[in-house]
Amino acid sequence: MTTERYALLTTRELAATYGISAGELEEQFHPDELVRVNAATNGITPLGVRRFLSDKGVSYQFRVIVHTTMRGGIGKTTSTISTAVRSAQYGFKTCVLDLDPQGSSSLALGAVPEEDDPIFYDIWQRPEELLSDALVTLSSHLSILPSSLENALLDASLLNPGSQKKAVKGVCDQLRLQGFDTVIVDCPPSLGIAVISAICAAQTIVVPVGSDAFSLKGLDLTLDEIASICDTFGLPHPAVRIIYTRYDQRENVSHHALSRIKERHPNLPLTVIRTSSEFSKALAAEETVFSRYARNSARDDYDRHVSELLGIVQAPLEQEQ
Ligand SMILES: Nc1ncnc2c1ncn2[C@@H]1O[C@H](COP(=O)(O)OP(=O)(O)OP(=O)(O)O)[C@@H](O)[C@H]1O
Ligand SMILES: [Mg+2]
Repeated sequence: MTTERYALLTTRELAATYGISAGELEEQFHPDELVRVNAATNGITPLGVRRFLSDKGVSYQFRVIVHTTMRGGIGKTTSTISTAVRSAQYGFKTCVLDLDPQGSSSLALGAVPEEDDPIFYDIWQRPEELLSDALVTLSSHLSILPSSLENALLDASLLNPGSQKKAVKGVCDQLRLQGFDTVIVDCPPSLGIAVISAICAAQTIVVPVGSDAFSLKGLDLTLDEIASICDTFGLPHPAVRIIYTRYDQRENVSHHALSRIKERHPNLPLTVIRTSSEFSKALAAEETVFSRYARNSARDDYDRHVSELLGIVQAPLEQEQ
């Protein structure tokens, strides 16, 4: 059964994007596209948002967005789940593809597979037959192919380069045939073979980075690897975005890391996510920062990231921080 367990994009939020009042925006919606979510707020159904944004020229063309970096614990899963929930709120039919044997995205979205439930490892060779049974529907616009420890065997079963090139792409192609617009992939903290396969399927790669030296080194290595994997397989280079997580304005180390990233990668789009306790609070409740309506920096920062990532707004030429 499909239930809307996630919050909606609000008319106030969408109105702010276009610099008009919520009242003016609401006049442009049919009554059945609006939902009263609390005393002061109207939400918009994902289908309503999609109709509106399509009219504004936003493209709902299929895309695969992969989160990867060698450095662990730096925000791949947080970015995956936040982006996925927000993308669904923006009317994209979204599927999370959890490739991390730790299954953190699956856990965070309340979709931990049972012992016999099929996961990527079980279905990648015949996605046209097996994918539907493995997908878990979370809401009208959000599904997940969950992960468990068995996915750790993927690296051993993807030894053939042809399989590496096609495994994730094959599953994504099938998701596209099933009507998904966006696949958001969460990877383990490595550049193992399953991650190589995900890179081969990506239109966009989001590389999270933190303040420590290892993480900055991880960024450089990950970027080099992406380029060399695409060259090896004869694939066009995907768009790459950097997301700098846990930025703390009060800490010198944050300022230094940010300057260094901008200096070394001046041409890559960069979003800064401030450090916030909202992320751990949301995680503890199996929610994301977009599951409720209260405004906070975590929500604002990820909304800016997702709006730019999905082409809803243009990135400013220079980040404000
Ligand atoms: N901007 C932030 N501010 C504060 N905490 C954050 C922020 N981003 C992520 N976190 C927290 O950091 C921890 C690690 O984040 P996350 O699980 O997303 O990293 P990861 O890269 O997926 O880790 P792994 O490599 O183990 O898969 C989580 O507890 C998360 O809530
Ligand atoms: Mg993770």
